[in-house]
Amino acid sequence: MFRFSFFINSIKMNMRVSRIKLSSGISEPGLDVDLLLIDPVIERYKGKQGNLIPLLQGAQNIYGYIPKSVFDKISSETGLKKNDLYGVATFYAQFRLKPVGKVVVRVCHGTACHVQNATKITEDIQTFLNVKDGETTEDRLFTLESVACLGCCSLAPCMMIGDETFGKLNGKKAVEVVKNIKRKETLDNKPNQSKPELWKT
Ligand code: FES
Repeated sequence: MFRFSFFINSIKMNMRVSRIKLSSGISEPGLDVDLLLIDPVIERYKGKQGNLIPLLQGAQNIYGYIPKSVFDKISSETGLKKNDLYGVATFYAQFRLKPVGKVVVRVCHGTACHVQNATKITEDIQTFLNVKDGETTEDRLFTLESVACLGCCSLAPCMMIGDETFGKLNGKKAVEVVKNIKRKETLDNKPNQSKPELWKT
């Protein structure tokens, strides 16, 4: 049904170590979802063969994740079964079923990073942000995720924030990076103050 190469690349490039459980991952308490935003995507792919993944990708591009109400709307307007939509969305790590923070901190737990104590990095960031792995901070600024190999094992242990990779980390350095980003985000709301440089390898 789906191209094998897409399947392999999706797993290699973006596999989260722990997957979201369907039963706990599709709720969106207190969040307003503007369902009109998805209309152009549905319009574009409705009735087209192989439209399931593009529809999910389009939804995620708009909302940052795929809200339950959007699953419902896509299903009712395209005729695609909800089970199929959920099945694909929960299988491929590229899809999110929960809202994420402005900044996603991806800590690598691939083999090279694992043996270099990636666990401690995640633990220290968890403590600093007061969230568990896979969770988002209350202020919606940070989401912490464990991921498989980021493809830069020579820098192990490492993490990725946005499109930047930070390597040769330990718990303290990793927390320092996150702390600096937090500081920067705060200063961005106070334009007259100077902004610190991010520590980076
Ligand atoms: S194992 Fe972490 S980058 Fe490869």
